[in-house]
Amino acid sequence: MQPLQHVLRARGSLRRGPLASVSRLRLQNCKAHSRLSDAARPSLERQQNGVPKDFSSRLMNGPTFQHFLRSMSPPQEKPSFPEAEDPPPYLTVDKLLGRQRKVYLETYGCQMNVNDTEIAWSILQKSGYLRTNNLQEADVILLVTCSIREKAEQTIWNRLHQLKTLKTKRPRSRVPLRIGILGCMAERLKEEILNREKMVDLLAGPDAYRDLPRLLAVAESGQQAANVLLSLDETYADVMPVQMNPSATSAFVSIMRGCDNMCSYCIVPFTRGRERSRPVASILEEVKKLSDQGLKEVTLLGQNVNSFRDNSEVQFNNAVPTNLSRGFTTNYKTKQGGLRFSYLLDHVSRVDPEMRIRFTSPHPKDFPDEVLQLIHERDNICKQIHLPAQSGSSRILEAMRRGYSREAYVELIHHIRESIPGVSLSSDFIAGFCGETEEDHLQTVSLLREVKYNIGFLFAYSMRQKTRAYHRLQDDVPEVVKLRRLEELITVFREEATKANKAFVGCTQLVLVEGLSKRSSTDLCGRNDGNLKVIFPDIEMEDATNPGLTVRAQPGDYVLVKVTSASSQTLKGHVLCKTTLKDSSTYCSTERIATLS
Ligand code: 5AD
Ligand code: SF4
Repeated sequence: MQPLQHVLRARGSLRRGPLASVSRLRLQNCKAHSRLSDAARPSLERQQNGVPKDFSSRLMNGPTFQHFLRSMSPPQEKPSFPEAEDPPPYLTVDKLLGRQRKVYLETYGCQMNVNDTEIAWSILQKSGYLRTNNLQEADVILLVTCSIREKAEQTIWNRLHQLKTLKTKRPRSRVPLRIGILGCMAERLKEEILNREKMVDLLAGPDAYRDLPRLLAVAESGQQAANVLLSLDETYADVMPVQMNPSATSAFVSIMRGCDNMCSYCIVPFTRGRERSRPVASILEEVKKLSDQGLKEVTLLGQNVNSFRDNSEVQFNNAVPTNLSRGFTTNYKTKQGGLRFSYLLDHVSRVDPEMRIRFTSPHPKDFPDEVLQLIHERDNICKQIHLPAQSGSSRILEAMRRGYSREAYVELIHHIRESIPGVSLSSDFIAGFCGETEEDHLQTVSLLREVKYNIGFLFAYSMRQKTRAYHRLQDDVPEVVKLRRLEELITVFREEATKANKAFVGCTQLVLVEGLSKRSSTDLCGRNDGNLKVIFPDIEMEDATNPGLTVRAQPGDYVLVKVTSASSQTLKGHVLCKTTLKDSSTYCSTERIATLS
């Protein structure tokens, strides 16, 4: 998943309602303009003591009220050329084009960042940039960054030090190398990055990728350029992400951005802004395109994927109250109306019955019965649910402002297991949150033992500035204790996952083949319905879709694999035959239920 004084300002303004936000955002825009336009302005117009001399005249010349009315209306078809702002007069159309400059993109952090990289690249490609995978060849290096934990940011600072050498050693015969920071770290640290690392030429926050051609054009002129404006409605609905791996069998489709939950430890609402959903029609269009390209799996992506709510169609904006999971509450005023996640999931899964549908990352509060029922009924929706618990202690869950107690969470787990027999469960946990005692920690251990997750993501708590925990709580668990508790959680998780995964031994699994196993060129690798990795020898097998034929499995094929061994992370087995999702579903689900119940 999934985080500047500017951000705080933006957040404050959003709370105050549209008119206040207009004037605030207008100031921010002006600030961006002032940075970008300096090169072109006579020196008299430049800042004195940090205050633009003709600030009021520039405010007059800034974006109009109409501009903001447009940016606050529901997303519409946008022109392929980025229209974030009119370019300043000194940036001619020619300068906004990439002119075959080569861009090297490097992605850090979560799946959302992988998707953002594809969006950024799609925008730059349309502007005439070329892509390179060779760092030495690059004219522009863009790092798509993550701020969720301190360590993630440290990795980027280290990388910037390495890139500095590349920039300083660049021969004068080549165009100067430009380096940009995109995503959460740009949003969180803004000017701090530009001041600390003078070699950084541009910053673009998660909602500013349409502005990249302009930012790069400004950077070309030797100025630092930044746009870290957060948006209320940007979902990049009209930007078709460009898949980095043309032979991939699966793709991620972004369905919503931002988060309104404000869990007390989390920087995401500050770096990615308010929650907003992409219109259903544009999601369905993208899924259809991916299915036409032969992709076999789509993962719906968002910080809070199951709080999806498309309000773009007026007729659905009635006062239908939101159903939450039983015993769960929200940190915000309950929202109403719009097309909800179950509607989207239903329609996405109907696009192509041979296409597997997954979604990540959900919040446990948004699992009403209609979603669970749909997952149970629909063959191509994977019976796999990520249910981030974060802690097993109700006291810590309250401090984290998660909106549920341990008891409500466990009850939800039972309800999910009853509603979707054989469901595979995964979770996120944080070790050593503020005020966590040994007793709280043991409760997390006991939750891991009780639930027996198949897949787990475990982290040591990392205090992030601007979060509620930063302002109100003490980061009082010593680092060594956090790490020791994390180790204990990992050990217990592995033991329980091994037990849970061993239940698959002797069972037949429907596997979507991804390609060669990384560890052995004679083995293939794919994933079962529960998203566990399955390894099996690459041998000839019967093709049940073409009786009498034998074939070797190819990426994108569905095959049946008989599981012979299991660890905490992988299943191993031998391949039985090539099949289809539809033909195998009855057989596999009966067996899954029999094995796991
Ligand atoms: N420290 C440690 N882990 C965190 N996460 C989010 N914020 C923090 C933090 N400050 C974890 C949560 C979340 C996952 C994406 O990252 O477990 O679910
Ligand atoms: Fe962060 Fe909580 Fe939102 Fe997840 S739900 S992105 S943990 S604030």
